[in-house]
Amino acid sequence: MNKPLTCHNYINGQWISAKSGKSFESLNPANGRECIATVPLSGSADVQAAVTAARQAYQSWRLVPAPVRSEIVHRIGEGLLARKKELATLMSREMGKILTEAQGDVQEGIDCAFYYAGEGRRLFGQTTPSELGNKFAMTLRMPIGVAALITPWNFPIAIPCWKALPALVCGNTLIFKPAKDVSACATLLTEIIAEAGVPPGVFNLVHGSGEEVGQSLTSHPEVDLVSFTGSSQTGAEVAAICGRSHKRVSLEMGGKNAQIVMEDADLELALEGALWGAFGTTGQRCTATSRLILHRDIKADFTAKLLDKTRKLRLGAGTDPHTDVGPLVNEAQLKRVKYYLEVAQDEGVTILTGGKQAQGEGLDQGYFFEPTILDGVESQMRVAQEEIFGPVVSLIEVGSFEEAIAIINDSRYGLSSAVYTQNVNRAFQAMRDIEAGITYINGPTIGAEVHLPFGGVKATGNGHREAGTAALDIFSEWKTVYVDFSGQLQRAQIDNR
Ligand code: SIN
Repeated sequence: MNKPLTCHNYINGQWISAKSGKSFESLNPANGRECIATVPLSGSADVQAAVTAARQAYQSWRLVPAPVRSEIVHRIGEGLLARKKELATLMSREMGKILTEAQGDVQEGIDCAFYYAGEGRRLFGQTTPSELGNKFAMTLRMPIGVAALITPWNFPIAIPCWKALPALVCGNTLIFKPAKDVSACATLLTEIIAEAGVPPGVFNLVHGSGEEVGQSLTSHPEVDLVSFTGSSQTGAEVAAICGRSHKRVSLEMGGKNAQIVMEDADLELALEGALWGAFGTTGQRCTATSRLILHRDIKADFTAKLLDKTRKLRLGAGTDPHTDVGPLVNEAQLKRVKYYLEVAQDEGVTILTGGKQAQGEGLDQGYFFEPTILDGVESQMRVAQEEIFGPVVSLIEVGSFEEAIAIINDSRYGLSSAVYTQNVNRAFQAMRDIEAGITYINGPTIGAEVHLPFGGVKATGNGHREAGTAALDIFSEWKTVYVDFSGQLQRAQIDNR
């Protein structure tokens, strides 16, 4: 076992402890006895210090030219690249993701840095003719101010980068509140950001709980913007607090993503997609496949093959290169998945494989759950409607393409979706008719790319999109500028024609 790291908050360019002097431990989910880091348990006094620093730094940071801000973001990308292996190994130990996925998570942060570094030389506005002579009209992107970034544990580097890097390029100052389970990863990311030359106060890190730190940030009058990724329930509370104080809020919340497999699909391809979508990251992605909507003509064949492949998945610590499926992130998550298996039994669902906590050599000290397939699921059942966030997939049988579309849309969420078909007409109908922010044709529900908008409809989001140029709309505000060079009063909105 490695010696635990000692994490600190990062406020105004200084690494400091929580004012309370209290701390908590971040544990290895593959072995709950191993402490990865001791971390400050911060409170409202620490939030206040971070907000003061961020508010003060904002006045100079907003005036740094965007191409210069983006040079720093480019250096963050280089720092991530240089420490990719170290970060990925730490991530795997701290939250359980298998090493190749952890490297992918860091790579997404790197891609994000290089993408937004380029954006600093664009940040395009518009020029447009004025309705009056000798008058010029244009739009500019302005920063918002102090932004709080509240991030989850499932993508410890990628998701903070999705938020922080466009926010920095746009000229905001930041307070980063990571999930407690990934405090060490957040500390290393902050180290890289600080070493890239971000001035003191521009990027601050405050560790602690959502109840204390998240709540204080969200309700703080000097915080102008909250960008939150997490559950729909917490997102609704964040939105309510922000709404009362007229804060901008961007929410990325739950999903109940489905993959449709039609009778004309390439079944081998659809199988690979289902396996990866359902059990990749132990099912702990917002975009994970938790419903498989199968045409009745292929269901028996597809299910038999899926069962066979699922039973062969190897469980273990994410750091073991032979592992296919790592542990759940913590005990609460394990309890949640177990609870949904009880719900499934009460609903009369058949458990084809899995359904219980995994036991065996190397598994007993961790939060391992067997990859699980539920059969005989109907769309209105709780297991088909509620987000489980674990390695559990429900099979739903349909008799037609229209029925499949109706079932995929029978959800309060609308993040990701996938359709496997060889029929081009169905593919285009699916793109048009599925109520989701993301639709994959002949690809799994997971696998977002940083230069495309990411987000969802219904209870998944509040209309914003992360990543791509869409993220600039979260972290900047339009200013419309009119320049009158006629030397006389020209009145618009007067009918003088
Ligand atoms: C996520 O689900 O949060 C990550 C994006 C993806 O894999 O599509």
